[in-house]
Amino acid sequence: MTGGKRQGCTTCCALVIFGAGGDLTKRLITPALYNLAKQNLLPERFAIVGIDHNERTTDDWRSGLHDFLEQTVQSRKGEFEAKQIDEKVWGELAGKMTYIAGDFLEAQTYSKLRDCLKQIDSKQKLEGNAVFYLAVADRFFAPIVDALGQAGLARDETGWRRVVIEKPFGHDLPSAMALNARILKVLREDQIYRIDHFLGKETVQNIMALRFSNGLFEPIWNRDRIDHVQITVAESIGIGTRGKFYEQTGALRDMVPNHLFQLVAMTAMEPPSSFGADEIRTKKAEVFKAVHPLTVDEAVRGQYGPGKIGDQKVPGYREEDNVATDSNVETYVALRLTIDNWRWAGVPFYLRTGKRLPDRWTEIAIHFKRAPLALFRDTPVDTFGPDWLILQIQPDEGIRLRFNAKRPGPEMHLESVAMDFKYSDWFKQPPAVGYETLLYDCFAGDQTLFQRADQVEASWAAVQPLLEAWDTTPPSGFPNYPAGSAGPESARALLTRDGRSWRPIR
Ligand code: BG6
Repeated sequence: MTGGKRQGCTTCCALVIFGAGGDLTKRLITPALYNLAKQNLLPERFAIVGIDHNERTTDDWRSGLHDFLEQTVQSRKGEFEAKQIDEKVWGELAGKMTYIAGDFLEAQTYSKLRDCLKQIDSKQKLEGNAVFYLAVADRFFAPIVDALGQAGLARDETGWRRVVIEKPFGHDLPSAMALNARILKVLREDQIYRIDHFLGKETVQNIMALRFSNGLFEPIWNRDRIDHVQITVAESIGIGTRGKFYEQTGALRDMVPNHLFQLVAMTAMEPPSSFGADEIRTKKAEVFKAVHPLTVDEAVRGQYGPGKIGDQKVPGYREEDNVATDSNVETYVALRLTIDNWRWAGVPFYLRTGKRLPDRWTEIAIHFKRAPLALFRDTPVDTFGPDWLILQIQPDEGIRLRFNAKRPGPEMHLESVAMDFKYSDWFKQPPAVGYETLLYDCFAGDQTLFQRADQVEASWAAVQPLLEAWDTTPPSGFPNYPAGSAGPESARALLTRDGRSWRPIR
């Protein structure tokens, strides 16, 4: 998939992390930097500057990150090469770290940062290149960008300057537009890297490889041969410690216009004429623009009540910490999406995502139309199952084709069988926490896997009518699915009325 992507990392740059003491830095950014360092994929001359409001020394910051990484390495399977930190690699990485204490909203912080970068630059010859990573709460995105601008840190005169912005990018269409307008006063679009971490997942990127590097699939990838598409992002986890955030967000905002829409775009986009970042991002934006704005009739919301995940009893959403006991926030969404373009006219895309579903399971399932003629009429075969192509995103990444085969024996009986491809059978996957590719691409200046302003706005535009409708009409009957079930009954009805049914989760 690296075809048109710029190969190779930059030789030098500084990475400035706002939110150096935060969860994202500990859980994902540092482990990803460690994995990149281990594979020798970081820029040759590299510095990391962490900024946060807590007073602490660089040594304290480093050792805090080390301890957290140590626990992470021991507990997360497949994400690291070994269960122990390679202390030599860590030592080299930690040696590049500097901590600055400062309030994100004070000008003084940015003058300290400017001085620090100048010093590092003259020592390490970073050529003025810097990535500013905003690993902070979204209310700080615009003020930090403004302050970088005012401090002259956003101008890429001597070297390049890039800014990485995390999710959530806005909480609806007007706020996303306002945020874009504000940061674009300071930065050019090619300096902005809006993250959707689903795009860092290897198998999500592989959807493009499947579609566009094989002659086999594209001729059948349209309304002539496809009956409908089901996209499932199921999670068995509950809200845990994120009650406060989730009460403001809900499943629709948290998952749909970003992660699920990325899966829709990868599945539905037209073939790009090159693998250039702008070409691909244009094709994806076209899909979002063609999504018919969602209405309440095409959407179902749910909230989990108490139940069981496997053998373990778990509380309902309203019993979670920092959640109102009468909360009406949805933890489950199912949607019927239509894409108003030539390729997909009449092919519904059914989307569902939820917390406390039976398993962690993400897949894109393409349901092909049945054979046009019931050839088997005078045989014991009365019905035959559909053909499915299933792109399994996580876990057990792979591709499965389900089709009908004759069961051996004198009589004609058909059975649904499967051809399976598992990535792990073919490739040794490099250990990854999911942010490695995104960081690497950002250092390399490749924006393919990052969201452009128009993509973000077009996805919010598609869900905006539904957000407004749901914000003004409280749901009835919450909680409406027990933890560990496949979701609310109304989600089943959404497909039944079209004469279809959901695939089992797992
Ligand atoms: C995040 C959401 O963006 O993605 C979470 O805020 C969700 O609610 C998570 O759990 C899912 O990501 P992953 O990589 O664990 O599938």
